[in-house]
Amino acid sequence: MKRLLPALAVLVAIGGAAQAEGELNVYSSRHYDTDDQLYNAFTEATGIKVNRIEAEADELIARLEAEGANSPADVFITVDAGRMWRAEQKGLLQPVESAVLEERIPEALRHPDNLWFGISTRARVIFYAKDRVENPPQTYADLADPAYKGKVCIRSGFNIYNLSLLASIIEHEGEEAARAWAEGVKANLAREPEGGDTDQLKAIVSGQCDIAVANTYYLARAIASQVDGLTGSTDQIGIVFPNQETTGTHVNVSAAAVAAHAPNRDNAVKFLEYLTSDSAQEYFAGQNNEYPAVPGLAATEAVTSLGAFRADELNLAALGRNQAAAERIFTETGWK
Ligand code: FE2
Repeated sequence: MKRLLPALAVLVAIGGAAQAEGELNVYSSRHYDTDDQLYNAFTEATGIKVNRIEAEADELIARLEAEGANSPADVFITVDAGRMWRAEQKGLLQPVESAVLEERIPEALRHPDNLWFGISTRARVIFYAKDRVENPPQTYADLADPAYKGKVCIRSGFNIYNLSLLASIIEHEGEEAARAWAEGVKANLAREPEGGDTDQLKAIVSGQCDIAVANTYYLARAIASQVDGLTGSTDQIGIVFPNQETTGTHVNVSAAAVAAHAPNRDNAVKFLEYLTSDSAQEYFAGQNNEYPAVPGLAATEAVTSLGAFRADELNLAALGRNQAAAERIFTETGWK
């Protein structure tokens, strides 16, 4: 929230004239020290000045809602299709017609009515202790196998990543199978869900958990840079990309959208198109050790070292549609 204040001051200075020739207001829940380079390159190429507001995703959604038609926001950037669905439900996004975006971004990674576009992807995978697990789970369904009783660690079911994972299971297998899965995984937990994805990986290193579910970039980050309690021990952690023989591994996106009341709509579309350029793609994905959304572009060395896999090709809008059912199932099966 502290980071928000200087950016807000800029917008207050703009006053009522949120629409200004050559300006763009970006609300983003992604923040990296290296962001400047990404935004400056856009400004250099187009002459459009970028004003950024950075905060937690749900704060930004609440803010967009409160500002309504007076919102200065042009572009909304966040992670997880489930969060974009929350924004969509509140009427905060508008459709975009762009041949560039339709050509560059695979269909599964964008909203069917072009309300948002995946800019980079991450996979939600199974990690395991190489020295303690001889036969790691190969599918999401395996996580519910009693053979892994007392071994599995995962963050809260109500975190958006797990809601989206369960939403994908609902889409593929129906609610009944999804409920059985939630029950089975809960019965296999080594401990009550706690912490974030990094904490699940650390718990493999400390010996508390033999198997963990987390997004790919959490391990890649520890390989590429210093993560206390993890870097230096990443060799102990094995990775399984689940469901390679069936539906493919569950992936999700960092995504960008044009805000419903964007005062600088044309600039917003230009910015989204810019994010799909080769250089911006590699930069945007590389910042968070994700995969570029545009096919054929390289991920970073640390990400590539995790291995290749086949991704689930489900259109990610399905994750939003099944979000409420996923929440209900986690609630009814007693998840924390
Ligand atoms: Fe994350």
